[in-house]
Amino acid sequence: MTISSIRSFLVLLGALFLSVLAGSAQTRLAATPPMGWNSWNHFAEHVTDADVRSAADMLVSTGMRDAGYVYVNLDDTWQGKRDAQGVLHPNERFPDMKALADYIHSKGLKFGIYSSPGAKTCGGYEGSLGHEDQDAQMYAAWGVDFLKYDLCSMQGDMRKLKAEQPNNPDDEYKLMIDAYRKMGKALQATGRPILYSLCQYGMDQPWKWGPGVGAQMWRTTDDIDDTYNRMMLIASAQAGLAKYAGPGHWNDPDMLEIGNGHMSYDEYKTHMTLWVLLAAPLLAGNDLSKMSEPDKGLLMNKEAIAIDQDPLGKQGDRVWQSGDFSVWTKPLSGGRTAVGFINSAADQRDFAVDLAEIGFPKGASLHDVWSGRDLGRRSGRFNQTIPRHGVALFIFSK
Ligand code: GLA
Repeated sequence: MTISSIRSFLVLLGALFLSVLAGSAQTRLAATPPMGWNSWNHFAEHVTDADVRSAADMLVSTGMRDAGYVYVNLDDTWQGKRDAQGVLHPNERFPDMKALADYIHSKGLKFGIYSSPGAKTCGGYEGSLGHEDQDAQMYAAWGVDFLKYDLCSMQGDMRKLKAEQPNNPDDEYKLMIDAYRKMGKALQATGRPILYSLCQYGMDQPWKWGPGVGAQMWRTTDDIDDTYNRMMLIASAQAGLAKYAGPGHWNDPDMLEIGNGHMSYDEYKTHMTLWVLLAAPLLAGNDLSKMSEPDKGLLMNKEAIAIDQDPLGKQGDRVWQSGDFSVWTKPLSGGRTAVGFINSAADQRDFAVDLAEIGFPKGASLHDVWSGRDLGRRSGRFNQTIPRHGVALFIFSK
């Protein structure tokens, strides 16, 4: 071996070591699915600095922070105009973003913000196109800890490219991936750990390229709304995606609607059950100053949250379906399994399933998560009565 080949080998080894280090730092940013609150589902385009500060206060006083909900994420519509130097200023509803971040941090919470790889956000506000490094540096200076990066107007750019170059279908895809990669690099170049969340509505399989652009999570579908049908449609679309999730990289079936008032208690219980089985990021989307006790019970149930946050980092999947009845399972640490039974029928139903058919030929010891009761050992046929649009959630130990 010559001196120069030894030198090249050592340089290569060093680069490998650095990339492993960077990779593990990225993983540590979201070793378990991120948890917090986001302004969009309730406040949408009306959100103000006062609303975000109040959300931070309420995360603390309700116990949500201590239950794990630490990100306070300001979604779209905070942006004002860029000045002659290209610096983006917040609009009049956000007088001082650094002060807002400091306030959030003073409560032991983290601050999230929102932008788009296109020229405009979905709400028609300023996006980051052409200003990626500048915006990332500004977020870091403010003390931002999380960025949701929403495709929005870049979809129009992609369509335009497709019309101009119909024979190169890969170009529009490359335009989008390059844009997401550019911001991923810009965030990393700030030196501040900023969790990178892609919002791309699940087109073009972001679970396959999300980790490569530096993201810790990516939306898998279009937007959720506060209806049972939409929530269930999104949950069903997660079947088969489990293998793409793990520590540092999570599928995101969108934010929670619990507490926004248009689903029944059982429907919200199904929402929480499915999201924890899916190892989904848990981003509450309600007005925290008006949380009912039942909603608090769902959002802060320690055992349900522990399923979502289990250190094994496995996403659950649908293992059984028959008509309106489905069974989802999620492997947990310690050889346990979380098992959810979902009744999507519009009336109460009695369901029976042979435990052997869902992976427990010798039966299991059952713990009912929502009632907190141990049910002892069960095997063979297992019967349950589940309310309309309701659910049962168990931890099975072999
Ligand atoms: C898109 C996203 C939503 C929200 C809005 C804001 O629709 O999917 O989650 O961020 O934009 O305009």
